[in-house]
Amino acid sequence: MKLRKVIFLSLLLLACAPWCIYSEERLLVNMTLVHNASALGAYCLDGSLPAYHLHRGFGAGTRNWLLQFEGGGWCNDIQSCLDRAKTRRGSTRYMSKQEVFSGILSSNASMNPDFYNWNRVKIRYCDGASFAGDAKFDNGTTLLYFRGQRIWKAIILDLLTKGLSNARKALLSGCSAGGLASFLHCDNFTSYLPANTSVKCLSDAGFFLDERDISLNHTMRSFYDDLITLQGVEQNLDKNCTSSLYYPKQCFFPQYALPFIRTPFFILNSAYDVFQFHHILVPPSADLHGHWNHCKLNPAACNTNQLDILQAFRKDMLAALRLFFEYSRRGGMFINSCFAHCQSESQDTWFALDSPRIHNKTIAEAVGDWYFGRRVTKEIDCAYPCDSTCHNLIG
Ligand SMILES: *[C@@H]1O[C@H](CO)[C@@H](O)[C@H](O)[C@H]1NC(C)=O
Ligand SMILES: *[C@@H]1O[C@H](CO)[C@@H](O)[C@H](O)[C@H]1NC(C)=O
Ligand SMILES: *[C@@H]1O[C@H](CO)[C@@H](O)[C@H](O)[C@H]1NC(C)=O
Ligand SMILES: *[C@@H]1O[C@H](CO)[C@@H](O)[C@H](O)[C@H]1NC(C)=O
Ligand SMILES: *[C@@H]1O[C@H](CO)[C@@H](O)[C@H](O)[C@H]1NC(C)=O
Ligand SMILES: *[C@@H]1O[C@H](CO)[C@@H](O)[C@H](O)[C@H]1NC(C)=O
Ligand SMILES: *[C@@H]1O[C@H](CO)[C@@H](O)[C@H](O)[C@H]1NC(C)=O
Ligand SMILES: *[C@@H]1O[C@H](CO)[C@@H](O)[C@H](O)[C@H]1NC(C)=O
Ligand SMILES: *[C@@H]1O[C@H](CO)[C@@H](O)[C@H](O)[C@H]1NC(C)=O
Repeated sequence: MKLRKVIFLSLLLLACAPWCIYSEERLLVNMTLVHNASALGAYCLDGSLPAYHLHRGFGAGTRNWLLQFEGGGWCNDIQSCLDRAKTRRGSTRYMSKQEVFSGILSSNASMNPDFYNWNRVKIRYCDGASFAGDAKFDNGTTLLYFRGQRIWKAIILDLLTKGLSNARKALLSGCSAGGLASFLHCDNFTSYLPANTSVKCLSDAGFFLDERDISLNHTMRSFYDDLITLQGVEQNLDKNCTSSLYYPKQCFFPQYALPFIRTPFFILNSAYDVFQFHHILVPPSADLHGHWNHCKLNPAACNTNQLDILQAFRKDMLAALRLFFEYSRRGGMFINSCFAHCQSESQDTWFALDSPRIHNKTIAEAVGDWYFGRRVTKEIDCAYPCDSTCHNLIG
């Protein structure tokens, strides 16, 4: 039995501003390997079994479930996937067997007011395609599994037997490549749960834009094209989306898939998302002379031309979200103007005295207000540099 595996480490000193030096207990949760996954052919890149970490809910949250997809980029050719298969991004063999649960995964009510007593699951990422591929590479000497979609299914089936099938409330979440997975699997998640379960989805830093880079190349679109082809993703994209677009592969981009998602959705993203800034808008290939190096590390070092380009990126993101903002009755959003990437898993951005806010509301409060229907939550920040609650730590 490998159900609940939790260790409370002894006191760990956290120091931030002088007024918030406090000691906190760190929640570590053991890994559960999904042994039944082999029956579905659901393997990590290297053939190892997939895994998740589950911390049981308690009290009023006993029948509520939060599932969080881990993030960590993608691999879009044989070499990058082979390299990844030898790391924690492509194999459970190399992963930490215990994960820290903080932010939205914290079990402490004063750090995670709305979800602390839910069953909380961190789904480990080891397929390199946001849990959406279904293919295999085997040329006789080299073997790679591209089985993200099967991993998703194996993990859901396993969790259903552990109480998920009786959920009252459920939230599918994820950050970065995991935030993209939330878009891709949201309605499929709903289909596994009873019709009377309240199901919603959240994407943190997963709203990757179909945007040209500063040299006008479609860097991200070609990256995703290669990924989708290599890993057999297209068959798993939303059929209503792929049948409506001239380029079906574009349904991998949330902005095209979003109108087809029927489950209530919350989009949490920075309008200056650091990953998108560094890899979509200004990838190294588009800045060979390193004119952007200082600006990438510190927004205060950007010149006016660079700031104009960043402001245009924010405008494009808001434009891509406009219909959702105006017409989605059950949707929520929190688009702030901090230089950040992933804001739900770390305590300092999720819910703390000095965490980022819009209209004086933290991300934890905004997501909770939306999930529980306490009020309509569609927050859009003013443009950089107006927001004084940002940490703007880039590293
Ligand atoms: C978690 O794993 C560690 C190391 O394998 C083990 O000592 C501990 O008992 C486990 N905790 C629980 C709650 O199962
Ligand atoms: C919860 O967090 C608060 C604030 O950090 C801390 O004072 C308290 O000891 C924590 N409670 C538990 C049970 O860890
Ligand atoms: C199989 O693919 C790997 C990786 O691309 C390559 O190094 C190897 O030479 C290939 N083997 C054969 C038999 O083609
Ligand atoms: C959900 O996805 C799984 C594969 O992961 C698939 O077998 C199943 O048919 C999907 N369910 C629906 C309703 O699309
Ligand atoms: C694993 O598979 C067996 C046989 O199909 C099934 O009886 C069992 O319930 C499964 N266990 C889990 C945790 O899904
Ligand atoms: C959904 O309906 C089933 C059967 O009537 C019931 O057992 C379950 O408690 C209900 N769940 C919720 C969340 O109301
Ligand atoms: C497509 O949309 C129709 C009607 O809105 C819906 O019934 C159907 O389930 C959708 N199919 C998929 C694959 O989402
Ligand atoms: C644009 O993309 C093409 C094809 O990927 C590449 O050959 C070219 O070097 C790129 N140009 C720049 C400026 O990045
Ligand atoms: C902002 O919210 C905090 C509680 O989170 C409250 O104490 C403070 O007064 C609020 N500030 C403003 C300006 O409303």
